[in-house]
Amino acid sequence: MELCSITGLKGKVRIPGDKSISHRCVMFGSIASGTTVADNFLNGADCLATIRCFRTLGIDIEEEGNTVTIHGKGLHGLNAPTDILDVGNSGTTTRLLSGILAGQPFDSKLSGDESLNSRPMKRIMTPLTQMGANISSILRNGCAPLYITPGKLHGIHYDSPVASAQVKSCILLAGLYAEGETSVTEPSLSRNHTELMLREFGADIRTTHDLNSTKATASIRPGKELYGQKITVPGDISSAAYFIAAGLIVPDSEILIENVGINPTRAGILRVCEDMGGDITLLNQRTEGGEKIADILVRTSRLHGTTIEGDIIPTLIDEIPVIAVMAAVAEGQTVIRDAAELKVKETDRIETVTDNLKAMGCKAEPTSDGMIITGGKLKGASIHTLLDHRIAMAFSIAALVAEGNTKILDSHCVDVSYPTFYDTFEELL
Ligand code: S3P
Repeated sequence: MELCSITGLKGKVRIPGDKSISHRCVMFGSIASGTTVADNFLNGADCLATIRCFRTLGIDIEEEGNTVTIHGKGLHGLNAPTDILDVGNSGTTTRLLSGILAGQPFDSKLSGDESLNSRPMKRIMTPLTQMGANISSILRNGCAPLYITPGKLHGIHYDSPVASAQVKSCILLAGLYAEGETSVTEPSLSRNHTELMLREFGADIRTTHDLNSTKATASIRPGKELYGQKITVPGDISSAAYFIAAGLIVPDSEILIENVGINPTRAGILRVCEDMGGDITLLNQRTEGGEKIADILVRTSRLHGTTIEGDIIPTLIDEIPVIAVMAAVAEGQTVIRDAAELKVKETDRIETVTDNLKAMGCKAEPTSDGMIITGGKLKGASIHTLLDHRIAMAFSIAALVAEGNTKILDSHCVDVSYPTFYDTFEELL
């Protein structure tokens, strides 16, 4: 994809459904009794990988446009897979599905693409093993392919070293199949869609917050049947983030982004944009299925640098590439710290972000847990996405304010979370 600078992005856009929630609709719907219907489902490659896996586990799933219907077979209704479960590029599929598979009376194997098979899985293998699961890394390198065989699970309390919704959700899902209560404490609250949705499905799940620290705990008790739900998936704030950034940095722009999920565990980017001087207004705020939703109005603003650190990090972890792009054109310096998790995403995003910013002429310095960016002018460059969807989209926004042309290599990787990304753009020109 070749892009150049523009001005005056105007109009309104609707963002595809939330990736995290779409995954969970399929997973929870499959192990619930009755039918789950998910409207505004994200047809991105990651969520399609989840559908593919649950079909391989014997679940009947119909897809019609953006509506997905899952014919759940109850907590104990999955069949032994006839094939290796292909999780593609999706960490969420791998980690959450492993939690469910740990409690099944059959063997299974999961494997993904090169990036997925190099991401750390010890973070789920450790707590699952403590629960009595039999899960191993086939190549003994702590990564997928994973092999899971039946184990008798018992509840544990797990003090997670990382604020990760994937780790938390994996443990809670295994907890559905364990004897006794299972609880997870994380250093600060990561996205809580699993807790909100499992409760809607009928699970016995509770959450508490430590009043003296940022720690958060979720606990689940087994024994309750889950029931199919009708869900309208809110627009994905992680996808909206690209248009929020575009609206703020492209001169003479005004964009209304409709129907975006603004769950506080996901909406850190809104706070950061405000801190940077961004003109953002939330309109038509409402709550649907336990999730907060709003329309977001964004206008071109003069941004300045900021510091992003501490417990806000898990609430904007996927948005850091595009936040870094905003920082690269803001006045002054932006410091991002406490974000070492960036290193274990689809690529090492500390490296991919700073390398590509440097290629565009920006002063960007990687650190052990983040980056330091000095704002200025960008120039066009060839962007090495390394097949990371969020790098492709973040640097497509950078291209809109760079002098000269920018080439996004392997831009098709946007399919992972936002197949219609470039079409949405056309609507604003
Ligand atoms: C996700 C959790 C996050 C996020 C990922 C989706 C989820 O990962 O980066 O894109 O759906 O639970 P971690 O929980 O590992 O930080």
